[in-house]
Amino acid sequence: MKKLLKNMYINNLRVILRCDFNVPITNGNITDETKIIKSLETINYLLNKNCKIIILSHLGRIKSIEDTKKYSLLPIKNLLEKYLNKPIKFADNILSEETKNIALNLQSGEILLLENTRFLDIPNKLESVYNDEIAKKIASLGEVFVFDSFAVAHRNHTTVTGISKYLPSCLGFLAEKELNMLDKLITNPPRPFTVIMGGAKVDDKLKIIKSLITKCDHLLVCGGIANSFLAALRLNVGASLKTQDANIIAELQKIMLANKEKFAFPLDAITTTTYSNNPSIKNINEIEKDDVIKDIGAKTINKYRQIINESATIFMNGTMGIYEEKAFANGTIEILNILKNCKEKVIIGGGDTTSAINKLGFKDVFNSVSSGGGATLEYIANQSLPGIEAISEEDEIEILDL
Ligand code: 3PG
Repeated sequence: MKKLLKNMYINNLRVILRCDFNVPITNGNITDETKIIKSLETINYLLNKNCKIIILSHLGRIKSIEDTKKYSLLPIKNLLEKYLNKPIKFADNILSEETKNIALNLQSGEILLLENTRFLDIPNKLESVYNDEIAKKIASLGEVFVFDSFAVAHRNHTTVTGISKYLPSCLGFLAEKELNMLDKLITNPPRPFTVIMGGAKVDDKLKIIKSLITKCDHLLVCGGIANSFLAALRLNVGASLKTQDANIIAELQKIMLANKEKFAFPLDAITTTTYSNNPSIKNINEIEKDDVIKDIGAKTINKYRQIINESATIFMNGTMGIYEEKAFANGTIEILNILKNCKEKVIIGGGDTTSAINKLGFKDVFNSVSSGGGATLEYIANQSLPGIEAISEEDEIEILDL
């Protein structure tokens, strides 16, 4: 069992806290604060224990200098200051001597937020390609490492798996909660166990689909992912988003053949065309060359409703269509309404799915909501994640934190 923050003697220590502040930002404004709000429990606990807190997080995917202009953690600093009602120090160069001085001179109750860990990827990939030297250098800023970024635990990134090699470590409250929730799901979920899988690209999710299909009783496919499956079934998906990789299509055909009775696919779709944004409803075998699939239709909703109502556990990751546009949000809203009526059986997984439920008026409806998309799926599939494995084991003798 992994060491937990509540069992750790932590008073007055200099703590490196790895959070996941990977929130959607538009024009510098945070459009969904959920992940930040959920991280406050651990931060407040550390403040009550008089810790000196050094916070690390990634934000976005940083591939160029241009990206560094869009993905600074400064808007997050401002929001944290508002919620914690105290000033927060900020360092824009994680590895500089100046940052080290600030970190080593923090007073009890002070917080230092370091700039986006993925900025370390420019010009050399020092975060997303594991680098032990950098992990050691960052670890030298603190005395204890608290891992509270479950959503990135599936990545073998320097600040995810490296710091705990050099410091005593534990799981924060959010990571602990997410794991407990998913453990209930993977150790003997009440059956039938149904997975609703949406999202844009099948290429990212193929490995997980292969593993999940062996564990669940039904896999309801939707979103952009469904288009690739339909193409693999030799149905015309017109100009809709789908994989271009022939090997992936072949893999999908193999998986479908071996698990025919478990899969459910859209029967109809809300479409537009490449030349007009006017929605129309079409049966799935009537899609034409210029059609673009944007949402599921009523027949699909009814079919999925029946399966959901007969299920004892439902895990949802991804949306049914392009819910951000009102005309294509109905499929996602209808499925969420069905899930709302049996919410005690439902687990929602993923940052994008969480943002969708918040935006579509289902905020605080579901009790089991996991922040990580990739991490949740990988944990369900493999029952282990590199970021969690890297954390210290609970000692035999617990130290009482009086
Ligand atoms: C997430 O939002 O799922 C996590 O922050 C991981 O983000 P990533 O997929 O960019 O690694």
